[in-house]
Formats: sequence, C-alpha cells, structure tokens
Amino acid sequence: MEKYIIEGGYKLHGKVSISGSKNASLPILIATLLTDNKVILHNVPKLKDVDTTISIIEFLGKKVVWKDESTLVVTQSGTAYKEKGFVVAPYELIKKMRASFLVSGALLANYNKVKTALPGGCAIGVRPVDIHIKAFEQLGIEHYIESGYEVFIKKKRVPKNSVIKFRYPSVGATENILMFLSKIPQQVTILNAACEPEVVDLANFLKKLGVQIEGAGSRTIKIVGCKKFTSSDIEYTVIPDRIEAGTFIIAAAITKGEIELNNVEPQHLTFVINKLRKSGLVIETENNKIYVLWKKSLKPQNITTRPYPYFPTDLQAQYMALMCTLKGSCVIKETVFENRFLHVGELLRMGANIVVEGRKAIVFGVEKLKSAEVMVSDLRAGAGLVLAALAAEGVSKISHIYHLDRGYEKLEEKISLLGGKIKRIDE
Ligand code: EPU
Repeated sequence: MEKYIIEGGYKLHGKVSISGSKNASLPILIATLLTDNKVILHNVPKLKDVDTTISIIEFLGKKVVWKDESTLVVTQSGTAYKEKGFVVAPYELIKKMRASFLVSGALLANYNKVKTALPGGCAIGVRPVDIHIKAFEQLGIEHYIESGYEVFIKKKRVPKNSVIKFRYPSVGATENILMFLSKIPQQVTILNAACEPEVVDLANFLKKLGVQIEGAGSRTIKIVGCKKFTSSDIEYTVIPDRIEAGTFIIAAAITKGEIELNNVEPQHLTFVINKLRKSGLVIETENNKIYVLWKKSLKPQNITTRPYPYFPTDLQAQYMALMCTLKGSCVIKETVFENRFLHVGELLRMGANIVVEGRKAIVFGVEKLKSAEVMVSDLRAGAGLVLAALAAEGVSKISHIYHLDRGYEKLEEKISLLGGKIKRIDE
C-alpha cells in the first residue's frame, strides 16, 4: 500500500501552478454525452476521478484520448450499452465515484429509458439523491428502484414553464437537471439552485453547445434547451481548481511560508481569502495569481461551512489543521455533510486538541503538532492531514493516500518543488 512520508517543519516557498478543477471537469466530461461532435477540453487534471469518468463515458459510447498533459479529446465511437431497451450505467462503474450519478441527466436527455446504479453513501455522509429524483419527477420522468438501480422512464412531456424548487442548493442536482434540460426546447426555471463556480462552468460549456442559460452563479437559473446543438467541434477550457488553490494557501499559512499560486481564479476564493486575511495572513491577488505570505502569528477565526459563496466544506479539514497550530481557540461548524469530521481523530493522534459536539468542532490551538502514523478517510481529510504533517515536529506516515490521488494532481511533486519534505513509498 502506498503511503506518504512527510518530514515537518519546512516553510513552503516558491511558485505553484494550480491544476484544472476536478469538480468542474467531471460534469463537463459527462456533458460530452449530450453531443456527437468532437469536444476538446483543456485544463483537465490527471486524476483518478477523471479516469473513472472517462471509463464511464467510454462505456456509454465515447472515445477519449489525452492529447497532452491536460487536454482531452472526446469523440463518438459507438452507442451506449442497452439492456431490455434501457441504457444502463452499471454499478461497477458508478460505485467508484458518487459524481457518476450525473450521467442520469445526460442519458435522460438522449434516451427515454435509463437505468443508473445508485451510488450509495461514502465516508463523509449518507449522500442521498432525493433532490435529483424529485426534480426529475416534476419534469415528467417516472422512476422506481430495482436491484440497487434507479430506473427512469420518460413518460410525459416537460410541463410548459416548469418551475423546479430545490429544498437545498445541491451542486450535483443542479448539474444533473441542467444536463437533462439541455435538450428540452422550452423554458424551465430552477429555484434555490447551487451557485458554485463548477455549476457556472458546466452552464458555460452547455452554452457553447447552443443551450440558453441565464442566471448560472445565482440561486435562480432559467434554461431553454435546444433540439439541435451547434454542428461544429467544441473547444472549452475548464476553470482552475479552487479547492486545490485553497489547500496551497493554507499550506503556506501552516508552514509560515510564502507562495505564489498561478493559474487560479481569486474571485472563487473570496470568502476564504477574507477569512484568512482576518486572521493575519497576507494575501494579494491579481488576475490569475494569488500571493500568500505568513508575516506574523495568525489568530484563530470561527468558520461555518455552507454552499458557495460561503466557506466550502471541501476546505474545512485543511482549515482545521491550520487552526490546530494557532494560539487560542475557535469553532468550526460543518453544515454541508453530516459526517465530515473523520480527520479529527487523526489530528488528535498528532497532538491536536479538538472537542467535537455534533456538527461543531471546538479547536484549541497547541504549541506544536507532533508527527504520527495517520490514516486518510476521504480526499479532503487527507489534505488536512498532509498539511498537519508539514507543520508537525518529526516524520509522519500517512496511509490510504489513494483518496488523495482522486483529487490532487501531482501533490507530492508540487509540495516538493515548494521545499516540503514529502515522499511516496510502497510498503
Ligand atoms: N443532498 C441531499 N440530497 C440530494 C443531494 C444532496 O440530501 O439529492 C445533501 C448531501 O447529502 C450533502 C449536501 O446535500 O449533505 C450537499 O450535497 P451536494 O449535492 O451539494 O454535493 P455533491 O454534488 O454531492 C459536490 C462536490 C463535493 C462537494 C459538494 C459541496 C463534486 C463531484 N463533488 O458534491 O466535492 O463537497 O459538492 O460543495 O462536484 C470533494 O471534492 O471532495 C467533494 C466531496
């Protein structure tokens, strides 16, 4: 099993280039199922989750080739697999990654009968798909569950001027429904939609296909799909990964270093940047750059994770690692996922002082984190542990790092270039 060996205590300094966004690349790759045209996607990160998505869309009839380090070319090569008249997205592929449930919307845009395996829960929560399903129902799709599959049958036309109101601004449900509606040539309004930059990126990609979308990035989205997409090849550049960028900003803070981040969109991190500035970190932004400098001891700040534009749940573990090292205390409240404190137990093994009360963690800073052998439970928890280990005294060993390979491109290479002492070993 592969593990990271990290020797803490080295300040990170230098320049790092941020990769394309994982959570934008996945839905956009799935959205290529909507068109038979060639799609060229730039700024796609080479990650496990991207590989999984490629396997899924290849199973459903696409051919996908890496043209260079970060460019994918997607072409049509066959047709989707059918079983008794249903196009099937099988469990073997869907179970690997929850985001794959997004194929439902794209497939329902193309076919009348679709079976998608239900992805099941994961370490951070139960993660139901009721919001997706209720919206599909309102849009005239019948469904039932059979042998772990959600079986969808398009029975009725989408009612004229439909208005869908989500009970919660789910990122995945917003993306799934946008994909489904991209071929329905009448206006549908989505209320309480997710405004994450990744949703906007998918909307921009769909617009390139010819879909009319207004309001992406706000809570109200109006979409008018089109029967026939543009006939030319599509070329699109995915947004930078704001969570990877946030992770490196916190890495500079926790190691008391100085980093320049390139290929970033600072606006996507406004809330996080303001919070860290408030704690005393120097952060300057330019077009596609963020400059971070630790100048003086930082002060802990409370945070509550919430949907965009507020503090992202995907940076909560990394932020907690930083708070563990500051003098004083703060409260971190997780409202997005019900079980996203699995890193706490591991941080305690590194000498942190954290008390969890339901969805709140009270973090009391300690003089120094200490190295330990720790285990990654999920992608972002893993990032939190890597940062903690970079700041800790001594040599830490981090296992189950395959979670990190799902979402951080060339992590050890980037940290090493910044002067961090990190090695991948197989034992
Ligand atoms: N939820 C429901 N019912 C639904 C859908 C969601 O109860 O039908 C709940 C979820 O269980 C969760 C909350 O609503 O508690 C938020 O879920 P959402 O649908 O917004 O998230 P997602 O689409 O499943 C994406 C990202 C996550 C990120 C969340 C929140 C992708 C592939 N994943 O998940 O990223 O944490 O939005 O911003 O885009 C990660 O990258 O590590 C990661 C987990």
